[in-house]
Amino acid sequence: MDKNKNQNKNKNINFKSLKIKDLVISPPLLLAPMAGLTHSALRTLILDYGGVGLLSTEMLAARRLPAENMALSPFLVKTGRETPLSYQLLITDSTEVQPALEAVHRFGADAVDLNLGCPAPRVRRSGGGSSLMGDIDKVRTIVGLARQSTELPLSAKIRLGEAFNEQQLCNFCQMLEGEGIDLLTVHARLRKEPFCRRPHWSWVGKVKQWVSIPVIANGSIFSVADAGKCLQISGADGLMIGRGAAQTPWLFADIGREIYGVDCPMYQISLPTMYARFICSLTERFVAERQLGRLKEFTHYFSVNYAFGHTLAVAVQTADSVRQAWQRAVGFFQRNDPEGLESAEQERAQLEELLAGGEV
Ligand SMILES: Cc1cc2nc3c(=O)[nH]c(=O)nc-3n(C[C@H](O)[C@H](O)[C@H](O)COP(=O)(O)O)c2cc1C
Repeated sequence: MDKNKNQNKNKNINFKSLKIKDLVISPPLLLAPMAGLTHSALRTLILDYGGVGLLSTEMLAARRLPAENMALSPFLVKTGRETPLSYQLLITDSTEVQPALEAVHRFGADAVDLNLGCPAPRVRRSGGGSSLMGDIDKVRTIVGLARQSTELPLSAKIRLGEAFNEQQLCNFCQMLEGEGIDLLTVHARLRKEPFCRRPHWSWVGKVKQWVSIPVIANGSIFSVADAGKCLQISGADGLMIGRGAAQTPWLFADIGREIYGVDCPMYQISLPTMYARFICSLTERFVAERQLGRLKEFTHYFSVNYAFGHTLAVAVQTADSVRQAWQRAVGFFQRNDPEGLESAEQERAQLEELLAGGEV
């Protein structure tokens, strides 16, 4: 089972990039696909600080992609800055593969990721996400077809499976590599393990020994210290960050600078400025009915930056409009971060002008 192909070649973690086909991922820090969160507004916020090597969409139902309008779909809308951008496909049947890949080619994808790890019951019932890890033959067909249908870098994202079963996981990962997957991301939890459980980063190290494609570690990286520890334990070729990216969009820049030696400028964080900028992006890029839900989702993570952030989260959660949510946030900032709010003067004025112009 243990082919020892890679014998921890990357003991020195201080390298800067990965090359997958023609795509350079530099530094090897990837944004995780997150439904309702990993959209254009969050992606551009992260880009403002830098340090991210590959951006992602949220998961996209392959079945619906061919009919989606790129300019209007809240899942597809993007600015020219958001590159390189990987499109994550949620595939439930092999017949969906080719039309979905034709669509992502049209949308200008830089890479394609296959969702094989989502544990959500609704997704599993539809035959997608982590349910696919229980059907190796179906996944073999899907990956084989995907490989034939695209020249783009093709990655897969998995969890560790149903139970700790080395043989099964090894067979699955080697099958993925054999069918042409170029990069494998491992969310280091079993299917049923909730986020509050500690991730099993050492299992990413096992996967790394079974395959020769680059392996990316994912799960509970919230700081530079977490990133260093995860790399040390897993020997992974890079990291994928999810919730930490929504909480602290400057995390990639910090990890890039401190671990990979990337020249990311130092910055002065003003949380109200960031929040106002995020809402500006939402109101400028998304159709009105899609803005408030996305603001609520983001605020759930953003609010942890404040000691009493739950009051901000609740205030926004119960708002009926983006305008009301912003007014409540301003009240919160006045009480909890007056200096930050003062430095957000320009963004605040821009946002209030935007909000005055539309019924949101
Ligand atoms: C709100 C939310 C939505 C998610 N949506 C997706 C998704 O669309 N596709 C996917 O592969 N994983 C999804 N995930 C899982 C993340 O990509 C990631 O694997 C997980 O959050 C662990 O990484 P983290 O600890 O850095 O957040 C989602 C996670 C969260 C919190």
